[in-house]
Amino acid sequence: MCGIVAYLGNKPAKHLLLEGLKRLEYRGYDSAGIAIMNGKLNVARAVGRVAMLEEKLEGLEGFDGSLGLCHTRWATHGSVTEHNAHPHRDDKHGIALVHNGIIENYAALKTYLQDKGHTFTSQTDTEVLAMLIGELYEGDLEKAVQAALREVTGAYAICVVCEKEPGVLVVARKGSPLMVGIGSNNDYVVASDGAAIISHTSRVFMLDDYNVVKLTREGFRTTDVNNVAVNPKVQQLEIDLEQIELGGYPHFMLKEIFEQPKALRACMSGRMDLREGRVVLGGLSTFGKEITRAKRVILTAQGTALHAAMIGRYLLEDLAKLPSQTEYASEFRYRNPTIEEGTVVVAVSQSGETADTLAALHEAKERGALALGVINVVGSTISRDTDAGVYLRVGPEIGVASTKAFTGQVAVLTLISLFMARRRIMGAGDCGDLLREMERIPEKIERILEQAPIIKKVTEKYVDRENWLFLGRGYNYPTALEGALKLKEISYIHAEGMPAAEMKHGPIALINEGMPAVFIANRGRQYEKVMSNIQEVRSRGGHVIAVATEGDEQIKKHVQDVLYIPDVPEPLSPLLTVIPLQLMAYYAAVARGHDVDKPRNLAKSVTVE
Ligand code: AGP
Ligand code: GLU
Repeated sequence: MCGIVAYLGNKPAKHLLLEGLKRLEYRGYDSAGIAIMNGKLNVARAVGRVAMLEEKLEGLEGFDGSLGLCHTRWATHGSVTEHNAHPHRDDKHGIALVHNGIIENYAALKTYLQDKGHTFTSQTDTEVLAMLIGELYEGDLEKAVQAALREVTGAYAICVVCEKEPGVLVVARKGSPLMVGIGSNNDYVVASDGAAIISHTSRVFMLDDYNVVKLTREGFRTTDVNNVAVNPKVQQLEIDLEQIELGGYPHFMLKEIFEQPKALRACMSGRMDLREGRVVLGGLSTFGKEITRAKRVILTAQGTALHAAMIGRYLLEDLAKLPSQTEYASEFRYRNPTIEEGTVVVAVSQSGETADTLAALHEAKERGALALGVINVVGSTISRDTDAGVYLRVGPEIGVASTKAFTGQVAVLTLISLFMARRRIMGAGDCGDLLREMERIPEKIERILEQAPIIKKVTEKYVDRENWLFLGRGYNYPTALEGALKLKEISYIHAEGMPAAEMKHGPIALINEGMPAVFIANRGRQYEKVMSNIQEVRSRGGHVIAVATEGDEQIKKHVQDVLYIPDVPEPLSPLLTVIPLQLMAYYAAVARGHDVDKPRNLAKSVTVE
């Protein structure tokens, strides 16, 4: 949600900033803006993609300096207009600021500043912060930023410059992510995530909440908002450029769907001891005892990560016989939840920055739960705030629609469930059998991916239909939810996912002639029941697309289209059944002419509540 890049050094900033901004565009893309110090501050802003800003800059002079900042916005306060685009400025000292987050007390601060005679040109909360820094400015930008941040509530990652101090960049964070990349020549790239930094340097430090960093060409210093010195921990960024480039694919989403076999191999590598029939998760070993004694597991997340968490719940109950529940992080956080002794809370998140999930995690910790993370981005806020965790290791996910992170989350939750199961009730033999099956999952996904042309053809038959159903039972009820979410978010087709049995309790009224209903009908405990639900849809004119197990020839008689997956034990089936659904969503979006990697209204990482 919103990308920030800032640069201070000796190279021309413009190209470097725009290149970084394009790498972060998946974080927000309704408008963009840039400010560069060149004697004075030059600012340009444009509605639309970064390309629009680039176009605008072509006709403008004065953007030649080597200190600057830029932003790609995902609007929260104020509509998508040039006036609301960042950077925002004060009206006195030539201060410019870019911001990711929400200043929650902006209305009160705005009234206070208006009473002091300031006039505003945007509807954003961000402009209020720029103006407040200006109001408190007495010749020292760092001090003014610290003073202003002591007055605000909410979330922010900010970068600030001031014409009166043309060699100074001040950056700060609370709640929203920000990191500083340290170049070899006292030059710095500051950004919301590593994708914008890695082509310059891999030496970075992450800001912690309330950190304020003052950067100059002579060096940097880090304090908190009360000016108490802080020692940041410099580390190596572990991203390689290839992972964040398209590499011949038309879209990141397609690349990431096809990367799943490789990603899952990396995710499982070194974590399965087939000979001993056990799972090795170094990240959990410090809390082995607490985890073994756990009485309840609460899995919390949002969106796709929540669907993975729901599968995690089925796994924990089925394999480890451990009472488990899933919760929307946003609801859990404010529900005044009861956390009994022996509760383990698992936060599931690709980005590790989702504000709702982070807030739920803090709530659970305060109430005494042991907090575990199932996270993809190494060093992200959630990964740092949990007691222990397991990384997905699936590589950076750029496509806004989550695909390889989902299968990575399900794979890690399967490993965690087996880890717990083995310590509670499961023997080495059974565990080893499942692990051997897991090892074959990547190869089975490859076989499904080979059928992409068939999946495309089937999807194109139904692509003009505006309402779809996704139905499944047991382990594949969450998969149905995920299939519906994928279709909604990138092709803007209305889709509902639900337990196949629930349909007859109301939604069946929606079914009319030709309505597509995708059934997950792989072999498993509830196969016969699913078949009955298919009949119920067929009798009312619905068109059924079934995801079924190879060798199930019978099913062809009852449905319009079949997409086959290889045979697999039921607990592992979501890792396969979701693949055709991801591809269907992708091909539907392409057929409808949508920008798959930048779906309207969405942003990759939602860092506001
Ligand atoms: C998935 O396709 C979504 N774009 C979204 O639902 C996402 O899964 C959700 O916002 C959670 O993100 P996280 O995994 O980074 O916490
Ligand atoms: N709240 C700010 C705005 O609406 C920042 C949004 C963002 O993070 O992009 O402009």
